[in-house]
Amino acid sequence: MTAAQTEMDAEKLREQFYNATITELRKPHDDLMVLRVRPDWPIPAFEPGQYTVLGLGAWEPRLPGTQPERDEGPPSRLIRRAYSISCPLLDDAGRLVTVDELDFLEFYVALVRRSVERPPALTPRLFTRRPGDRLYCGNRIRGTYTLRHVRPQDTVVFAATGTGEAPHNAMIAQLLKRGHRPPIVAVTSVRYRRDLAYLQTHRRLQELFDNYRYLPLTTREPENLDPSHPRFVGKRHLQDYFESGAFERDAGITLDPRNTHVFLCGNPQMVGAPVPGPDGKKVFPAPKGMVQVLTERGFNIDRPNAPGNIHFERFW
Ligand SMILES: Cc1cc2nc3c(=O)[nH]c(=O)nc-3n(C[C@H](O)[C@H](O)[C@H](O)COP(=O)(O)OP(=O)(O)OC[C@H]3O[C@@H](n4cnc5c(N)ncnc54)[C@H](O)[C@@H]3O)c2cc1C
Ligand SMILES: NC(=O)c1ccc[n+]([C@@H]2O[C@H](COP(=O)([O-])OP(=O)(O)OC[C@H]3O[C@@H](n4cnc5c(N)ncnc54)[C@H](OP(=O)(O)O)[C@@H]3O)[C@@H](O)[C@H]2O)c1
Repeated sequence: MTAAQTEMDAEKLREQFYNATITELRKPHDDLMVLRVRPDWPIPAFEPGQYTVLGLGAWEPRLPGTQPERDEGPPSRLIRRAYSISCPLLDDAGRLVTVDELDFLEFYVALVRRSVERPPALTPRLFTRRPGDRLYCGNRIRGTYTLRHVRPQDTVVFAATGTGEAPHNAMIAQLLKRGHRPPIVAVTSVRYRRDLAYLQTHRRLQELFDNYRYLPLTTREPENLDPSHPRFVGKRHLQDYFESGAFERDAGITLDPRNTHVFLCGNPQMVGAPVPGPDGKKVFPAPKGMVQVLTERGFNIDRPNAPGNIHFERFW
């Protein structure tokens, strides 16, 4: 088949499967993007914290330098992955904006260049896209990772690794918009400072709202790895930061399970949700994750039949 024929086939498949347009795309660095997608259909009402699906055809090219794919099926298939809906938090005029006020969906995505389990399929293709390009966007927005149990008197803590911040941005905007008065604290752990795509926005939000606090944590900067660094703090994962009391000191709050909800999103090892043990009973995984740290402080996992104050979303 000639290159021209292959491109004609790809164009037909795009017309058949794609139902949305990338309107904006910001890359803080080569491996991180914030993209805005405008679907061809009206965006349905949804709850901050929920997710939908983005997709691209296997016929699209992969970014050079990413792990080659094994033969994983026909090139005409659509590759789909779940993505939490993020929020710009502030509009161009610097005013607080919530997801229901936007005519686009914002996503915050990390490039997975390689993976031991299986070669990553979607992000090596997504990172070749440009504004104006078309893609697939699922029209069912869903998920139970939402603010529905948060009462007006509750302190709310959002803890994320990397792009796990995405659903938190949508929830933070909603809480601030509805005039939530108790403390709202967001802590995000990233490898490097450059991985904080929304840092300036969170800093501005702190100036605008005295009950809002943003605590960025890095794990691979010189102050994390080099003991001779004048501001050496070591490598602190979120679990260590919470367990040592440093989080409460920096945030200026007490983690009181009677009036605090904690939301955890991103790396499943950070979340550390209980898994079935040898006798079928649930046990905490090792090393310790955030769910165990919080359970030991009297918090309970939120379950469909037993509402609790630990909420989590795992990205893989
Ligand atoms: C409910 C839900 C919401 C999600 N929301 C987001 C989001 O807002 N932003 C986002 O970047 N990802 C999000 N993800 C992950 C996303 O669905 C993809 O798995 C990810 O983008 C990688 O896709 P891939 O096809 O390239 O690789 P995959 O084949 O899906 O994953 C390969 C491997 O990459 C690693 N990995 C996957 N996602 C990440 C990540 N985000 N950070 C670090 N390592 C990762 C894991 O080891 C995984 O096994 C979400 C997942 C779920 C289930
Ligand atoms: N961020 C980059 O510059 C970069 C560059 C190239 C490729 N990538 C790829 O992009 C993807 C996303 O990377 P990411 O940095 O956003 O996500 P990530 O690997 O999940 O790291 C985000 C944060 O979570 C921490 N973390 C890792 N394991 C943890 C655990 N068990 N408990 C608690 N915290 C933990 C990391 O600390 P640690 O420092 O201990 O890992 C880091 O601070 C990955 O596939 C990665 O390979 C990222």
